[in-house]
Amino acid sequence: MAGFTIRTYGDPVLRQRARDVEDIDGRIKQLADDMAETMYAAPGVGLAAPQVGVQKRMFVYDVGHGEGPRTIVNPVLAEARGEWTFEEGCLSVPGLSWPIVRPKEVHLVGVGLDGEEISVEADEFLARVFQHEVDHLDGVLLVERLDDDQRREAKRILRARALDLRAGDPDGLGSLVPAGERRDADARGAPGERLSGHSGPGDPTTGDTEGTHRL
Ligand code: NI
Repeated sequence: MAGFTIRTYGDPVLRQRARDVEDIDGRIKQLADDMAETMYAAPGVGLAAPQVGVQKRMFVYDVGHGEGPRTIVNPVLAEARGEWTFEEGCLSVPGLSWPIVRPKEVHLVGVGLDGEEISVEADEFLARVFQHEVDHLDGVLLVERLDDDQRREAKRILRARALDLRAGDPDGLGSLVPAGERRDADARGAPGERLSGHSGPGDPTTGDTEGTHRL
C-alpha cells in the first residue's frame, strides 16, 4: 500500500482547481484507499486529493464515529447557514492553526464510491471538515480564510519556513521547534511562534494533541 506524501504550503498543486471525477473506477477506489491511509497516518480527519498531488474533486474524512473512512466524489456545497468559530488546522500547513469563522451548517451533495448520490446536512465540526476540503478542491488554503492580523502573522511564519527550506531543512519546521518536539508542535503550535488564537479563552478545542483539527 502506498502512503502518499502530503503536499505542503508553497506547492503549486494546492493552488489549482481540481477537475471533476468522470468515472468512479478501480483506480479512483484505490486512490480513496491510499488517501485514507495517508490521512490516518498523518494523523488527520480529512484529506483532499490535491493534498497528495492528484487534481481530482474528491476527499476522504473520518470524524471519529467509528464508521471508518468516507469518500465524497465531486462534492458541492449546496447551502450554508449561520456562523461558527473553530480552531482549524491543515495537514498542508503543518504545525499551525487559527480560530476561523465559517458557516455553521452546510448541505453537501456529491457521489459515493458506489456511485450513489450523497446528500448530507452537516453541522459544526462535520460542516467545517466539508468546507475545508471543498476549499482544497478549489485551490484555496485556510490561510486565505484568516482575518488581516492572522494573515500577517501566518505570512511571517510561512516566509521564515521557506527560508529554512532553502537552507536545507526538509520540512521547514527547523526554525520553529527542535526535531524531537515536532509532533507536539504539530498539534499545539510551536513555542515562541504561538499565534494569538492558540490559547484563546473559551475555545474548548484548544490543547488537543491528537490531530483532530487537521483537515
Ligand atoms: Ni487542509
